[in-house]
Amino acid sequence: MLDPTRFLSDLHDLRRIGVQGSGVIRPAYSAPDIAARDWLAGKIAEAGLTARFDAMGNLFGLAEGPSLLLGSHSDTQPTGGWLDGALGVIAALEIARAARAAGGPAISIVSFQDEEGRFGGTTGSAVWSGLLSLAEADAVKDTDGITLAAARADLGARSGADINPAQFTGYIELHIEQGPTLDAAGEQIGVVTDIVGYREIMVTLSGQQNHAGTTPMALRKDAFQGLSAFNTRLNDRLRNVVTPQSVWTIGHVALSPNAASIVPGQVRFSMQWRDGDDARLGRMQSIIETVLNEIAAEMGLGLEIGGFVGLEPVEMDAGLRARLESAAEAVAPGRWRRMPSGALHDATNVARLMPVAMLFVPSIGGVSHAFEEDTHEADLVAGLRVLAQAAGVQA
Ligand code: GLV
Ligand code: MN
Ligand code: MN
Repeated sequence: MLDPTRFLSDLHDLRRIGVQGSGVIRPAYSAPDIAARDWLAGKIAEAGLTARFDAMGNLFGLAEGPSLLLGSHSDTQPTGGWLDGALGVIAALEIARAARAAGGPAISIVSFQDEEGRFGGTTGSAVWSGLLSLAEADAVKDTDGITLAAARADLGARSGADINPAQFTGYIELHIEQGPTLDAAGEQIGVVTDIVGYREIMVTLSGQQNHAGTTPMALRKDAFQGLSAFNTRLNDRLRNVVTPQSVWTIGHVALSPNAASIVPGQVRFSMQWRDGDDARLGRMQSIIETVLNEIAAEMGLGLEIGGFVGLEPVEMDAGLRARLESAAEAVAPGRWRRMPSGALHDATNVARLMPVAMLFVPSIGGVSHAFEEDTHEADLVAGLRVLAQAAGVQA
C-alpha cells in the first residue's frame, strides 16, 4: 500500500544531505551528491530492487523483467531547492515499494546524474540516451575548469556497466512545476503536454585591461561595456520574434580581472534561450549572433563563441499522458490542467529511448532554483497518488 507518511519522511531524509537553510547544495559529483546516491542505493536494496550505477553515476533501482521506469534526479543547482528532482525520485521509490508489496506491477526507478547541468545540462540522461557519448561528456568542463572525467572519478568503484533501456516499457517523471501557473490557479496537478527546447552558448568578449583612472572613455576597450550594450540591444531585437513563452538568460558572468580600479579586459558569459518551437530557437540564435558581431565590431572587442549545447522541444507520449489525465481527474477532480514545461527535464532525453510523460505539482509562489522552493504537503501527496495510479499501483 502507498504510504504517504513514509514518502514524506524519506523526502525529508534526502533533504538533510547537503541541506543549507531551507535549501540544498548537492551539485553533481559533490560529496553530498554521492552521499545522497549511496543513501538511495540503500533504500533501493531495502525495497527489494537491484541498485546499479552506470559509468556516469546514474543510479537505477531495477525490478526483474520488463518494467515501467519512474524517477528524476537527485543532484541540485549550486544553490538549489529541496524538491527539484528529489520529489520524482522519492515518489518513484515509494511507488516501487508499494508495487513490490502488492506483488506487481514491475516498477524500476532512476536518479539521473547532473540534470542541473554542472557539465552542460541533463548530462546523465543525455549520455544514457546516446545523445552524447561518454567521451564527449568527459571532456566538458564546469565553470571552475574541472572536467567531467575528473569529477566522475570520485564515483570510484560505484561506476558500473551500461543499463539496457530495452527492459523499460516507458518512463514517467513527477516534478514540481517550478513556475507560477498551478499555484496561482489553486490547482494541484499539471499533466505535461511538451517540454520546451533550449540552446546555450558561452561567449567571450575581449578588450584591453587598463587603468580605470587614467584611460579616457573614448580610448577604452571595456569588456563589461560590451556585455552591457549587447544585453540592451538583444532585448530590443528579440522583441520581433519572441512570444510571451520565450525566455532568455545571461546567468553566468565571469569578469576579468574583476577589480574596482581596472577597466575589465575580458568577460566570459553564458547565453541561454528556451522556446517550445525549434524554428523560433533558430531565429533567436541568429539574432543573438548578429548582435554579438555588431557589438564586437563597434566597440573593437574580440569575440569568441563556443560551448554550444541544446535540446530540441519534445512532445509527451499520448498513451501515457492519457493515463496521467484520468488519474489526475480521479485524485484532483477539476483541479488539474494540461500544460507545457518551461523547465528542462531528463524526460527529453529519455524520449529518444521509450514513451515518456510527466506531471507537475505546484511550486508555492512559483519559486524554484532557490532556497525558498517549496510545495504544500497535500500537493506532494496528490502528485504521488496520481503517479501511482497512472503506473497501475493502488493509490
Ligand atoms: C533544469 O532544471 C532547468 O530547467 O534548467
Ligand atoms: Mn529538475
Ligand atoms: Mn532544476
